[in-house]
Amino acid sequence: MKKRDERTEAMRKLAAGGEERIFAKSDILNTPLDELIDDLAEGLSESDRAFMMEAAPELKERLRPKRFAHSISVARTAKHYAGIYGVDVSQATRAGLVHDWDKCFVGQEVFDRCLELGVELPEGYEHLEAIFHSITGARALAIRFPQLEPEILQAISRHTAGAVEMSPLDMVIFVADMIEPTRTYEALEPLRDLVGEVELAELFARCYEATVLFLASKRRYLHPDTARVWNAWVGESPLKHMKR
Ligand SMILES: [Fe+2]
Ligand SMILES: [Fe+2]
Repeated sequence: MKKRDERTEAMRKLAAGGEERIFAKSDILNTPLDELIDDLAEGLSESDRAFMMEAAPELKERLRPKRFAHSISVARTAKHYAGIYGVDVSQATRAGLVHDWDKCFVGQEVFDRCLELGVELPEGYEHLEAIFHSITGARALAIRFPQLEPEILQAISRHTAGAVEMSPLDMVIFVADMIEPTRTYEALEPLRDLVGEVELAELFARCYEATVLFLASKRRYLHPDTARVWNAWVGESPLKHMKR
C-alpha cells in the first residue's frame, strides 16, 4: 500500500473509532485532570504517564485556563499526527503538553525571563514578544524535568518561529500548535484537510506559509530568520522552472 493510502486508512480508523473526538476548550476545562491525563497517556508507557501526572497540575497552575485547554488539545493533536506520520508518539504527546510552559510571562517579564535563562535576543526583539516563550520554555523545562529528551526540548524551542532545519517531531509540534481543534479560525480548515493527505514537510510548509502571510497581512514585525526559514521550506526559486 502506498504511504498516502496507509495514512488515509489510519485517519479513517481513527474517525471510525471515535478517537478523533473533538474537544472544545470548555469540554477540556470541565473534564477532571486525571481523566485528561488518562486520555493522553492511553497506549503510552508508565513513565510517560508519570511525567504527565507531575507536569500537568503544575502547567495548570502556570497558565490561564484557555491556554491550559489549548495545551491539552495540542498534546492530543500531536499524539494523533505522530501516529499518522510515523513520529515518536510518546515524545509528541509530552512535547505537545508542555510546549507553552513559559506562556505565563507577558510584556517585560518575557525579556527578563530571556535574560534570566541566557537567551540571546535578536535584532528587533522588542517587537517579538510572542516568540520567546518557546525558547525560554525549553530551557526552563530542561532544568525542571531533566529527564526530557533533547528532541522534545528542540521541538518546543522551535514551535513559534520554526527553523531552517526541522525534525519530523519539530514539524508535528509546530503544526499541532497551529491547527489543534480548539482553535476556531475558519482559515485553518483547509490546513486540517491536508493532514494525512500530504507529506509532513508539505503540511509544515503550508502552515508556515499561512503564518507568514497572516503576519504580513497585519503588517506585523517579522523575526529576522523568517526569510531563511521561508526559503528553506516554502519559497521556490524561479530559476528552478527556467528552461535551459
Ligand atoms: Fe506557543
Ligand atoms: Fe501553543
